[in-house]
Amino acid sequence: MRDQMLIDGEWLDGTDGERIAVIDPASGDEITTVAGGTPADATAAVDAAAAAQGPWAAAAPRERAEVLRSCWVTLLDHADELAGLITREHGKPLADARGEIAYAAEFFRWNSEETVRIHGTIGTAPAGTNRIIVRHPPVGVVVMVTPWNFPAAMITRKVAPALGAGNAVVIKPPKETPLTALRVADLLQEAGVPPGVVNVVPTGNAGAWFDAATEHRATRMVSFTGSTEVGRVLLRRCADRVLKVAMELGGNAPFVVFDDADLDAAVEGAMVAKMRHSAETCTAANRFFAEAGIAPAFTEALAAAMADVKVGNGFEEGVTCGPMINAAAIESIGGLVDAAVGAGATVATGGAAIDGPGFFYEPTVLADVASTAAITREEIFGPVAPVIPFTDHDAMIADANDTEMGLTAYVYTADLAKGLATAERLESGMVGVNRGAVSDPAAPFGGMKQSGLGREGASEGIYEFCETQYIAASW
Ligand code: SIN
Repeated sequence: MRDQMLIDGEWLDGTDGERIAVIDPASGDEITTVAGGTPADATAAVDAAAAAQGPWAAAAPRERAEVLRSCWVTLLDHADELAGLITREHGKPLADARGEIAYAAEFFRWNSEETVRIHGTIGTAPAGTNRIIVRHPPVGVVVMVTPWNFPAAMITRKVAPALGAGNAVVIKPPKETPLTALRVADLLQEAGVPPGVVNVVPTGNAGAWFDAATEHRATRMVSFTGSTEVGRVLLRRCADRVLKVAMELGGNAPFVVFDDADLDAAVEGAMVAKMRHSAETCTAANRFFAEAGIAPAFTEALAAAMADVKVGNGFEEGVTCGPMINAAAIESIGGLVDAAVGAGATVATGGAAIDGPGFFYEPTVLADVASTAAITREEIFGPVAPVIPFTDHDAMIADANDTEMGLTAYVYTADLAKGLATAERLESGMVGVNRGAVSDPAAPFGGMKQSGLGREGASEGIYEFCETQYIAASW
């Protein structure tokens, strides 16, 4: 198990010897500690990345692509070990953790293929005086701040395209799940990533760490995944140095079920959209709009499916929902449920935290939730499904769009034309039509409105980590 920071290919303790406790959310016990980085360590990591970036960018695209492909193979070769680390420090069921490793590794395969397809253009100026050549060099050193809900995949979704484009990176992993991040970085080196191209510095002092990393003259970009609240703070700090940014922020996904939907398929999709990775995803369905004709049957069937979920330690056979990340999460989920019930919702199943040890909450369905209840405004990040019945399509679309978020939405209907027309009216960067999962390394992941800036994955993802340079040339 790696428990030191990685700077310039060396495993080091922090300059002030600080250690950060890593907690098992299934028991509340300490698993181990890892080295905590100071602002000086963040600066040293950017120094290392700056020195490594030039030679890495100068390597032939095919050479970088082969290294990325080797990262894909190496991560898959260590899938069991990595999945075990994820379940240990995040808590998600082992099957989900294995799924996360396949997803995480796939970003390397996809981006190895994109690395040799970073295209520019050439055209003739309208006046006929010169050529307009457009090319896409790497942006430079990228500082990455990653979340705890996908301890491996939210790192690889950024690192793979950044490296493919020819950048070097400094990662601040979350203090909740640093062990996976450190081991992934270790394996990337084993797969052939040169020293200094990937640096990982956990910290217990995120603000000072971030200031030091972004004040460094070599840093050119920040890529962040996390809450909209934190994203706003980081954006303000990036403004001081006019850094390029990519932000994957919070969601508040509507899940729309029309009367004509196949009930079983809608419930199955709802369970995926809500409960994937223990309901701790920013793509999670947060508000279930069910048309009046299907709302009672949908609520009943969803409640039955939620009541069937086995909650427990992610290592236990049959468990499909692990613990929440910490006690604060349990408090926040409980507060939203209690407020919704206080405002008139009824509990169809669940509705309470499960006594410790560990941080568990019952899979919950709330019926007849008012579209104005606080739970429809906040990202729940837990196993709670509020069902809001509707009769008027236009009013439902207005309610679904009445949020500052715009990450994901889901629509279930037997009428594909209605499904696509509804999808086009929803202000969301990603929409699942008769599907409860949208994430795919080959598709552009990202949000509209305050859910983010930029896209990860697809062919767009690699260009996020590039500059655009235009050359006016005459010959
Ligand atoms: C997230 O929750 O931040 C990402 C979810 C995903 O990639 O599916």
